[in-house]
Amino acid sequence: MEFIKVKTYAELSKRAADIILGQIRRKPDSVLGLATGSTPIGTYEELIRAYDDGRADFSKVRTVNLDEYCGLSEKDEQSYRCFMNTYLFDHINIDKANTNVPNGMAADPEEECRRYDAVISSAGGIDLQLLGIGVNGHIGFNEPSDKFTEGTHIVTLDERTRNSNSRFFKSLDEVPRKAVTVGIGTIMSSGKILLLANGESKKAIVEKAIYGEITPRVPASILQKHGDLTVIFSEE
Ligand code: F6R
Repeated sequence: MEFIKVKTYAELSKRAADIILGQIRRKPDSVLGLATGSTPIGTYEELIRAYDDGRADFSKVRTVNLDEYCGLSEKDEQSYRCFMNTYLFDHINIDKANTNVPNGMAADPEEECRRYDAVISSAGGIDLQLLGIGVNGHIGFNEPSDKFTEGTHIVTLDERTRNSNSRFFKSLDEVPRKAVTVGIGTIMSSGKILLLANGESKKAIVEKAIYGEITPRVPASILQKHGDLTVIFSEE
């Protein structure tokens, strides 16, 4: 594991984008596992800057996002599909047909989970998985539980997660109670994992996840077992 501690969020974003750009240069048709949330926004801004400056070509890149809220359509501003279009896809030369986010509106959510796993395996798995971490140690929407999950599945969101994500909604009531998320098994099968965390509120959980006991009560702790994990933490 490589632990990179930086002072500012800007530095975190630059370091993370450099790692992603290196991956795309080495393998132009890389499969990137992407995350939403506040943490990767600066990284996405750096990727857009690299594209604008002619330093990056996303034309062959394929992406699979970690998760989506159940019950939100891609037109909903709070949906993760909308987030990805707004913060990244609309600004680079990626083919939207090569971008994947679980469908939160699927009539049969279990079928949607199987479809999403098939999308990931037919892409040949994930080359580089970008992750944020929840204050409860969740990765994707894999919440603390009694066992580590394998493939894509439906989760009931932890109240701490709903509370924390309510900052993006008009009220806590509007935050969906269920979500589709790729499983821990899928995340662990990625070639490389890049975990980003910034700020005091994440310090304790990052320490627990990276140096503490490996337990499904702290889902991110399983990352200790990955052979190619980079953690970037900024104090800001
Ligand atoms: C988002 C996701 C979540 C977030 C985590 C941290 O796709 O999978 O695990 O990475 O909740 O969110 P922020 O970055 O908003 O603190």
